[in-house]
Amino acid sequence: MEQSTIDNYKKAGKIAKEALLLGRELIKKNAKLLDVCNKIEGKIFSLGAKPAFPVQVSCNDIAAHYCPEDDDKIVFSDQLVCLDVGVHVDGCIGDNACSVDLSRNNSDLVKASQEALKAAVETVEVGVSLGEIGKAIQNAIEGFGFKPVRNLSGHGLDSFNIHAPPTIPNFDTKDKTKLEKGMVIAIEPFATNGAGLIYENGEPSVFALHGKKSVRVGFVRNILKQIEGYNGLPFTTRWITKNFSEAQVRYALNQLKQLEILKEYPPLVEKMNGLVSQAEDSLLVDDEVVVLTQ
Ligand code: CO
Repeated sequence: MEQSTIDNYKKAGKIAKEALLLGRELIKKNAKLLDVCNKIEGKIFSLGAKPAFPVQVSCNDIAAHYCPEDDDKIVFSDQLVCLDVGVHVDGCIGDNACSVDLSRNNSDLVKASQEALKAAVETVEVGVSLGEIGKAIQNAIEGFGFKPVRNLSGHGLDSFNIHAPPTIPNFDTKDKTKLEKGMVIAIEPFATNGAGLIYENGEPSVFALHGKKSVRVGFVRNILKQIEGYNGLPFTTRWITKNFSEAQVRYALNQLKQLEILKEYPPLVEKMNGLVSQAEDSLLVDDEVVVLTQ
């Protein structure tokens, strides 16, 4: 990997961490989810980077992909919040997450994903197998009496690609695939007091464009142009309604869906409605492993 690319990853990781820490401060009783997301994203821009995906504030039994729209009225009260923040610098991504327990009744659950992340990071070196990383996560979470969410996983990071190979499992899959020098990965354990499985549920507000097609209607073309500017990275409805009416955005997104170039990311909800906590860091796998989001 070129030094300039490594520098971009380090910069993205550093800004991602700073934005995450701001978010952790902002998530308080009576704060609006919408305001918190806008402020975190504003911070990312002010530090000279861009969001790699919309800031997500997934509460209670929602593990991921909850992203408020402009008319969202929800305020924080006593939720368990998974805050996921991604940043990119010229396509080099830093991805990190933490949990905020507003009720203060779930500190063990929060600790479980934190300790699992710690244990996983300790295993990381060139040549370690994916199964070994998953095993460390599973053991740590089960040690607290909870379950890892098995159908969510960490992932590789590549240029403008938030879900590159390899898939980093959150349980012992016995996968013998080895980490290689030069890989950039995000490890993200999720712990739950539910079934340990999530499913897609509810209306998506997170999307990504894949593929290229032409559209006829003028305003749809303009919306598509804005979306193409995200280079295939996820975006949210709220970013588009800054420039276009809500009706236009709905129409355009529907059109892109029909053209089969729009991927939707609906909220991911725990199967037994268990509470979910999350922790995540991005790492550069090298002779000396670098935690990029520290
Ligand atoms: Co991630």
